[in-house]
Amino acid sequence: MRTVSVQLGNRSYAIKIAPGLLDQLGRECARLKLGARCAIITDTNVGKRYAKAAFNSLATAGFSPSLIVVPAGETAKSLKTVQTCYDLLAEHRLERKSFIVALGGGVVGDLAGFVAATYLRGVAFVQVPTTLLAQVDSSVGGKVGVNLKAGKNLVGAFYQPRLVLCDLDTLDTLPVREFRTGLAEVIKYGIISDAKLFARLERDLPKLLWRESKTLADVVARCCEIKAEVVGQDETEGGLRAILNFGHTIGHALENISGYGKYLHGEAISIGQIIAAKLSFALTGLSGRDGGRIRDLFKRAGLPYYVKLNALQRKKLFAAMRHDKKVSGGEIKFVLAKRIGKVIWGQRVPDEIIHQVLDFRLLIPD
Ligand SMILES: NC(=O)c1ccc[n+]([C@@H]2O[C@H](COP(=O)([O-])OP(=O)(O)OC[C@H]3O[C@@H](n4cnc5c(N)ncnc54)[C@H](O)[C@@H]3O)[C@@H](O)[C@H]2O)c1
Ligand SMILES: [Zn+2]
Repeated sequence: MRTVSVQLGNRSYAIKIAPGLLDQLGRECARLKLGARCAIITDTNVGKRYAKAAFNSLATAGFSPSLIVVPAGETAKSLKTVQTCYDLLAEHRLERKSFIVALGGGVVGDLAGFVAATYLRGVAFVQVPTTLLAQVDSSVGGKVGVNLKAGKNLVGAFYQPRLVLCDLDTLDTLPVREFRTGLAEVIKYGIISDAKLFARLERDLPKLLWRESKTLADVVARCCEIKAEVVGQDETEGGLRAILNFGHTIGHALENISGYGKYLHGEAISIGQIIAAKLSFALTGLSGRDGGRIRDLFKRAGLPYYVKLNALQRKKLFAAMRHDKKVSGGEIKFVLAKRIGKVIWGQRVPDEIIHQVLDFRLLIPD
């Protein structure tokens, strides 16, 4: 088993990564000295596969779990589902010492984390992420929340889990498209802070795509280490944490204008990261060679690597970028790369250069 620790003073916690961890859930929770009553929040897809194992493990360890199953998919990340969860928690008489287990992908993690942050002014919660994206990204760092009609993640909190258990076996049942979307975040970690990881991904991509267990364990652990390090230094995104948004300025806007249906998050940020690489080539000295390596790795991972927008879509893209909640004073700031493994945040980019990239007038040489 690999353990990564997130250092946040008295809110520090461990991320444990190994196959077969779901069966250890009860024993691991017992070490946290929490109350007996707990609730597992999961979705329909994950619930039918893994809820029983989670439930039994908790019950065997002496807990009294109840199960809350929400619909699968992004629409469950809503205040309406939050309300349903509160009612069920109250019905099951969860109290201050009780805790919530988030069993599922990023949707369940964000939703259950928000419920935990607010029910009775906060109860403990444990993340059991079951998608690659959730294991390397959303379950770590304490951003929890739900969507509004006006946009994604507009209501939320910073609320850290007490433990994160990444059971690598659960990734076996993940649909291939969902697996690849997680790879977009994995590649991001290489670009933003670890050239060695990036080189390993170039070398071991086929093994990773087969979900070979040793490679998967190494890579998930390394990504968690990078995220833990960044979050440990800047929990609430005053500065450094912004580097995790590499490729996300364009990526989020693309998700937004295509109505959150066409692209999965990882697909949108794959395109976003390649555009960011091109901007970096133009503005921050990223070499053509590094830019080409970035583009090629996303391509080889089976992720989309360009987008063609008509004039209206492009107008909407710029509007969406200006509406991003990370924009302050109307100014869009980008994270750009200097080389693979090193990025800088807070970079202003003239609209004209973005247009050049979108027109394919600014290309990275092959
Ligand atoms: N909090 C953060 O820091 C953070 C970071 C990145 C993304 N997010 C959020 O994460 C969400 C996306 O998460 P996601 O990509 O995990 O999507 P998801 O939770 O919707 O899961 C994707 C799909 O896979 C299914 N699934 C999950 N695990 C499975 C398994 N082991 N086997 C079979 N099917 C499985 C789910 O039911 C769902 O249909 C978005 O809402 C995004 O905003 C949050
Ligand atoms: Zn992301």
